[in-house]
Amino acid sequence: MPKVKLHVDGEIVEQEVKDHANLVVLAGIKQFPKLKYGCGMGKCTRCTCRVIDGGDQLDPPNWKEEKRLGDKLEEGYRLTCQLSVKDDLEISQENIDVRKKKREVQELRKD
Ligand code: FES
Repeated sequence: MPKVKLHVDGEIVEQEVKDHANLVVLAGIKQFPKLKYGCGMGKCTRCTCRVIDGGDQLDPPNWKEEKRLGDKLEEGYRLTCQLSVKDDLEISQENIDVRKKKREVQELRKD
């Protein structure tokens, strides 16, 4: 089973997950603590992480990630809710301010 290490709020959460797990789905059912997320659908960007290690096993960014993250993808940022974890992965949500103003989020939801 893949091992996931998450750096968030000065803590490190380390946990094994099932093959092809979606961390936001696990967080939603209280099986992956501390992960920051919102819509779960690639719209709000609240789940944005920076991949530290293990990025090669992830599928290439999808259109939602390209639309929401743009140039940030080249810096290793991904939308956690769009990732399927197939092997060990280390990600960080430290110092990522991706919160959007309420109005912007409402605009995104219209897409
Ligand atoms: S949880 Fe909203 S974009 Fe990932």
